[in-house]
Amino acid sequence: MNLRVVVAISGGIAAYKVPLLIRMLKKAGCEVKVVVTENALEFVTITTLQTLSQNPVYSEMFAEKKSDFTQHIALADWADVYIVAPATANVIGKYANGIADDCLTTTLLAFDKIVFFAPAMNTKMYHNKVVQDNIEKLKSLGVNIILPEKGELACGVVGDGRMVEPETIFATLESFVEQSQAYKGKKVCITAGPTYEQIDAVRFIGNYSSGRMGFELAKVFAEKGAEVSLITGPTQQTIEHCNVKRFDVKNAAQMYDKTVECFENCDIAILSAAVADYTPKSTFDTKLKKKTDSLVVELVPTKDILAELGRRKKENQVLVGFALETDNELENAKEKLNRKNLDFIVLNSLKDAGAGFNVSTNKVTIIDAKGEIYNSELKSKYEIALDISEKILS
Ligand code: CTP
Repeated sequence: MNLRVVVAISGGIAAYKVPLLIRMLKKAGCEVKVVVTENALEFVTITTLQTLSQNPVYSEMFAEKKSDFTQHIALADWADVYIVAPATANVIGKYANGIADDCLTTTLLAFDKIVFFAPAMNTKMYHNKVVQDNIEKLKSLGVNIILPEKGELACGVVGDGRMVEPETIFATLESFVEQSQAYKGKKVCITAGPTYEQIDAVRFIGNYSSGRMGFELAKVFAEKGAEVSLITGPTQQTIEHCNVKRFDVKNAAQMYDKTVECFENCDIAILSAAVADYTPKSTFDTKLKKKTDSLVVELVPTKDILAELGRRKKENQVLVGFALETDNELENAKEKLNRKNLDFIVLNSLKDAGAGFNVSTNKVTIIDAKGEIYNSELKSKYEIALDISEKILS
């Protein structure tokens, strides 16, 4: 592994195991720098850490006062990965709330790449709602939490809260690195969100799609190394990833043009957008005035983007569609899969509570061209996106 790793040690008894992790990282070819809290030095010595990492250890904010006031920025810029192990309740709480009052938390706050936390603490502390909420917050911010195990703790109690062994932390990092290469070199085109079909200057026909599923897909594929083009209808969703290029469109016709253009050079296309099937025949650039009689808006069909990509698909391209069904779900989805020449179709049923539009969870059935079926549990849209990425890979 050709990585620059900062091992950040906070003050828990599990700190005594961390020198082993440093050794494994070094043996695997990583460059390692260590940052410690003052309390961590009650459990492990600077000499050990310095010898194993073959680098100076960072412990004081102003140690290098004379030469370098901004070592925390330099360290954060240098590193590819931060591993906080053990991560005490204190350091978890500080990071979750943006507190930077020592060398470890300051460098961590200045770091914007991949972060792992391996929590370690007493069972009661671990199950305290404040700590659990902080862990959830870190997860939602993209921190990778290596959950502690059940076992005998330093206080003699047997319960949750023991830091995993250094081998497990190392294996987690290794598999993360492997995963992040899974789609390296692949170009992926994803559509997301609703489309807005203009009636007049202030009115449109839209739908309840939040765009969340498509954004989670973009995130997952980007994290796995793909170059993602995300073509999205109007949405509140945001995404920050250097592998994602976002294209905002408004209506079905614009989404058609951009997606067809993008498909030309991509390896995989996943169309999760809820595209309008009809659009007003005439649109008005001014606001229609209210009249006493009824208003008829004539609708004409939009072009089916997915079907068009199915027609254009080359042998080495993978095409994935979504289907939102209320009746005869499986039959209809299979029919769509065949008719639109897809490799996979992801079926959402509106009958499933917690699935479909405007929720953060989903429950899907993935069907492949051979008719093989995979049924997911109700899970987060991020996890569903992971499932889809794994199916395509397999
Ligand atoms: N789709 C598309 N272009 C359209 C309509 C739909 O690319 N104009 C795509 C969607 O992004 C989705 C799939 O087609 O991946 C299925 O959409 P869905 O609305 O379930 O099916 P339709 O083909 O529109 O058929 P129906 O509405 O009759 O179920």
